[in-house]
Amino acid sequence: MNWAYWNPVKIRFGNGLLDEVAGLIGQRRWALVTYDQPLFREFSARLTGIAGAPVVSITNIETNPDCADLAESCRQFGAAEPAEVIVALGGGSMIDAAKVLAASDGDFETVRRHLVEKKPLIEGAILPIIAVPTTAGTGSEVTSWATVWDSANGSKYSLAHPRLYPETAVLDPALTVGAPRGLTLATGLDALSHALESIWNVNGNPVSANYAVEAAKEIIETLPRLLERLDDVELRTRQMRASLLAGLAFSNTKTALAHNISYDITLKSGTIHGIACSFSLPMVMRWAMGAQPQCDAALRRVFGPDLEAGAERLGAFLRDLGVATEPSAYGVSAGEWNRLVGKALEGERGRNFIGRQAAMAA
Ligand SMILES: NC(=O)c1ccc[n+]([C@@H]2O[C@H](COP(=O)([O-])OP(=O)(O)OC[C@H]3O[C@@H](n4cnc5c(N)ncnc54)[C@H](O)[C@@H]3O)[C@@H](O)[C@H]2O)c1
Ligand SMILES: [Fe+2]
Repeated sequence: MNWAYWNPVKIRFGNGLLDEVAGLIGQRRWALVTYDQPLFREFSARLTGIAGAPVVSITNIETNPDCADLAESCRQFGAAEPAEVIVALGGGSMIDAAKVLAASDGDFETVRRHLVEKKPLIEGAILPIIAVPTTAGTGSEVTSWATVWDSANGSKYSLAHPRLYPETAVLDPALTVGAPRGLTLATGLDALSHALESIWNVNGNPVSANYAVEAAKEIIETLPRLLERLDDVELRTRQMRASLLAGLAFSNTKTALAHNISYDITLKSGTIHGIACSFSLPMVMRWAMGAQPQCDAALRRVFGPDLEAGAERLGAFLRDLGVATEPSAYGVSAGEWNRLVGKALEGERGRNFIGRQAAMAA
């Protein structure tokens, strides 16, 4: 089997590394993308205290960057002195928003035309990004795509370009210590979903599988303990490292069926991404089992030799954390669920799933 693995992001990992971001910006004019919230004003003050002021701060996005808000962000960005590098300080929403700004050339219309009319981006104008994640989950700091939500039309787009891999990812686990339980749970499960979805994936390869196995094992062991001790920096460090490894895995494979299912669940009921993309994992795992020897082998490295018992344990793991695993808990009837899975199997991510035949037969 031929395969390839590539990820160009420079990774810096360690507690206190926020203070090194200024050195990475260097003499470049920079823009900051972060939340308009007290904790992030504190982080930003720490950063600007060393790096000096950014040419512009974009703070109008809270979560799930949406076309309407991004148009305003791009307008502010375009009106400011041109930046040479963008620093994204926040969760996946901030890193994804930074990717949209980086590709926009100061006008959201550039990105909209690309997403809707498939017009090429202005490649030479795409700006470098320094990604400083404050959640341990999305992996966006090492991927080349961003989710752009269009809630007005009940849909979502994926903005993707090789130039959108961040220049550097700075992972400082201390920044995640203030994340509340619900956010820690959802982001932790998002990372678990990235790891497993890159295993049952037609694009899987030995490098992505190694990252994914390591990530999944670590999350299953660490997350329940972390949820009991949210201020434990050592557990935060382990969880962030696992989320990074999951990101490195799916940066090359993309996700699969559980993520494709999640988009409709989120758009329909507003269920937070990390829960929407993980409640179906035990079911999706059962469809994947037996489809491909390499996939089974990787799953055995995570769950042990008996995969059916492993799927059972995965379900119990989620339910013990308070995550219901049946679709009805998300307002989806049995009939609707079958339609939703059928649609997801035809989606861009669903087509990556190696267990499509078993899922179609179910
Ligand atoms: N590009 C990718 O590869 C990729 C992958 C998965 C998900 N995503 C996207 O990422 C988004 C979700 O990102 P997310 O789950 O990281 O959350 P988020 O960025 O949407 O943030 C959610 C909330 O968490 C708070 N928060 C963040 N860090 C905190 C901290 N350290 N302490 C206290 N509060 C904190 C923020 O204030 C915010 O209100 C979704 O839009 C999803 O589509 C992108
Ligand atoms: Fe995800």
